Amino acid sequence: MKIVKTVAEVREQVKAWRKEGLTVGLVPTMGYLHEGHASLIDKSHEQNDRTVVSDFVNPMQFGPAEDLESYPRDIEHDAALVEAHGGDLIFNPDPEEMYHEGFSSFVDMTVLTEELCGLSRPVHFRGVCTVVSKLFNIVTPDRAYFGKKDAQQLAVIRHMADDLNMPLEIIGCPIVREADGLAKSSRNTYLSPDERKAALVLSKAIKLGSDLVKGGETDVKKITDEMKSLISAEPLARIDYVKIVDAATMQQIPVIDRPSLCAIAVFIGKTRLIDNFFTEDV
Ligand code: PAJ
Repeated sequence: MKIVKTVAEVREQVKAWRKEGLTVGLVPTMGYLHEGHASLIDKSHEQNDRTVVSDFVNPMQFGPAEDLESYPRDIEHDAALVEAHGGDLIFNPDPEEMYHEGFSSFVDMTVLTEELCGLSRPVHFRGVCTVVSKLFNIVTPDRAYFGKKDAQQLAVIRHMADDLNMPLEIIGCPIVREADGLAKSSRNTYLSPDERKAALVLSKAIKLGSDLVKGGETDVKKITDEMKSLISAEPLARIDYVKIVDAATMQQIPVIDRPSLCAIAVFIGKTRLIDNFFTEDV
């Protein structure tokens, strides 16, 4: 397992693998890796001869009031995890390697991004699409792996790859949770012990919503109202959104009459956490 910091080194390595006829999987991450990331590396290892993990806290996808500076970083821990899960190469560039002076080309998407996280984080998906396009161009993978934890991101990336004829397969992987239900996230490290307990309202609300759907409830307002009152009962929690959208368009719907996504974003203290379920999976 190697760690490289430049685009040229990645290209050289991938070229050598291609010469041997090997397939390549890419797992894009912002580092501080946990078992959620590990599940993507495992899947890539299973489906490809070689796996590249990018480890880059992408400044472009953070808004001015967000946590770019404090975002946790630990490349040694990440390297051990990647190695243990069969990854072959970590691409850990400095921001200047990805965004040279005068950088001025962006990948912007005009659908799928107006709702949910796109509404609360206006510059976010432009930054995600731009950096992921760059990573696809640098690594030229056969397959790339994304978690359903970031369900809107997965939909956006699929749409981008299709729109722009990117020659790779996008693979979506299930949400990995802590034993008590909290979805694993690098941002969970921000939580104090009290906040960590309070953060359980997210997965509890997701369970409540999916149980209602499983029981045949289709009225979106009824479902989201019940979820909201569960979350609001937790004093440390502040709702950003609790919404049900058409899974194909990410637009809000009044009744669940098609494959839908129920997605929530909740501040626990200053930490913004997300969770979701797809109605097709309940
Ligand atoms: P990051 O938050 O590090 O997540 C990297 C990948 O891991 C994403 O595809 C995310 O959905 C997946 N992931 C995170 N937690 C997970 C969990 N509990 N279960 C399953 N998968 C999980 O998402 C990003 O980074 C960035 O936006 C990125 C795509 C790398 C672009 O900068």
